[in-house]
Amino acid sequence: MAQVNDPDRWWHGGVFYQIYPRSYADSNGDGVGDLGGIIGKLDHLQRLGVSGIWLSPVTCSPNRDWGYDVSDYRDIDPDYGTLADLDELVQEAGQRGIRILMDLVPNHTSDRHAWFVDALRGPDAPYRGYYVWADPKPDGSPPNNWMSNFGGPAWRLDEASGQYYLHNFEAEQPDLDWWNEDVRNAFDDILRFWWDRGVAGFRIDVCNGMIKDEELRDNPPATEDDPIDQQFMGVRSVYNTDRPEAHDILRRWRAVAGTYDPERLLIGETYVDDISVLAQFYGNGRDELHGGFNFVFIHAPLDAEAMRAVVEEVEATRPPGAWPIWTGSNHDVSRLATRWAGGDPAKVKVALVVLLTLRGTPFLYQGDEIGLTDGPIEREDVLDRVGARFWPYYKGRDAERTPMPWSAGAGGGFTEPGVTTWLPMADPSQCNVADQEGDANSVLELCRRTIAARAAHEDLAVGGYRTVPSPEGTWAYRRGESTTVALNMSDAPATFDDVGGTVAVCTDPALEGSVAEGSLSLAAWTAAVVTA
Ligand code: NOJ
Repeated sequence: MAQVNDPDRWWHGGVFYQIYPRSYADSNGDGVGDLGGIIGKLDHLQRLGVSGIWLSPVTCSPNRDWGYDVSDYRDIDPDYGTLADLDELVQEAGQRGIRILMDLVPNHTSDRHAWFVDALRGPDAPYRGYYVWADPKPDGSPPNNWMSNFGGPAWRLDEASGQYYLHNFEAEQPDLDWWNEDVRNAFDDILRFWWDRGVAGFRIDVCNGMIKDEELRDNPPATEDDPIDQQFMGVRSVYNTDRPEAHDILRRWRAVAGTYDPERLLIGETYVDDISVLAQFYGNGRDELHGGFNFVFIHAPLDAEAMRAVVEEVEATRPPGAWPIWTGSNHDVSRLATRWAGGDPAKVKVALVVLLTLRGTPFLYQGDEIGLTDGPIEREDVLDRVGARFWPYYKGRDAERTPMPWSAGAGGGFTEPGVTTWLPMADPSQCNVADQEGDANSVLELCRRTIAARAAHEDLAVGGYRTVPSPEGTWAYRRGESTTVALNMSDAPATFDDVGGTVAVCTDPALEGSVAEGSLSLAAWTAAVVTA
């Protein structure tokens, strides 16, 4: 970005794009996306204007949790290719001005990881202490009342040794013991392994939960003020997540990141429900995460007042220098086109203008750029074990992980015609990249124009945020000195006062290039960016 002169902040004016590799593009006709497929789509990402990619895990995994159960942190799973393919991706992306973030999974390994296989040999095994073990209570029950995020107790008995091990997710995802200095050293080496190869940084899984209470104290009972998942578990997760010591680990990693030029990025999955707690993960603004995902925003409704309140709180609580991250979809939540917009293209477009014009760096999830809705998942299609466990009350995460539709024909350009894809694909003739190319009214072209406007206008890239008055059901903000974003998020027309300049981007392309002289009228569910 021309407007960001500090090479360590190359990403501030940019846009990231999350790829769920299994569902992006299949280059070898096995129905599973792979690194070769991603390399083949880099031109699409360059045209879209993204500066960086977050790759969900491509490291070795037996896929009990689809890559988030890592059995080797230093190699590529054969489903996706080889280390040489990853190197090629880094290089090919780099030539297009795109950098690669990988996914770091430090909370737990797979139970097939060599460390855990060794740990199961018994209390004296060299890697036993890499994991959290505890003796049963006198009656043989688990050591405390901690519950797994994926249902049931967070402890599994290892009958051979008579001890329990901790798993905050599936039992096949044993939690690492971050009080163990050897674990910390091992991860320093893993960071360097990828960063030395030119990987630009990491998205850090379960970033706020990796270290647990050293004394393994019981959690208190949940109250009706607690999040619904904790009420469901019956306990509030006080001692097995969000421990203050997580910050020590982040400071340690930030120091390692700082030994690289440019500094490597740390973007955390900060799954907290309080914006002021999110702010703490930025440390003093320079010594912990570079960015933390904002789940309060993700879970907010597509409503002017609700979203504005979240943004204003972020602005009020962030430490100096801290740079916000904005997302509407990922591989764990229903896609924004479904969850926020209910499939209405006008609402999808307004939501994307919000994401792409707030102060901070947006992360688009694959398919957001074409307004892709959740995929068609029936009970028999379910591969996410959490969905299988809780269907139909919670249907799991498969619907947001279905293959990317690139074109209308059989296989949707994701794979060859006739190939069975790993998860079912929505009818690609309904929504795909090729059909939106060149259509000014499409979601894709709107995204391209908005991202181009970020690159062209310093106000949008790095300027400050200030709410400006606007009618009920709408939201307007000034970016930098003289750029205004006007969002009519209501079902009726609205007029915004005190707006002057040229409409640089609009969800209604017919308005682009028109001049606002003191006021701007927008139809229902219309968004405009006005530059002086
Ligand atoms: C968050 C990841 O995004 C999710 O997919 C995974 O299941 C859990 N962490 C456990 O690793």
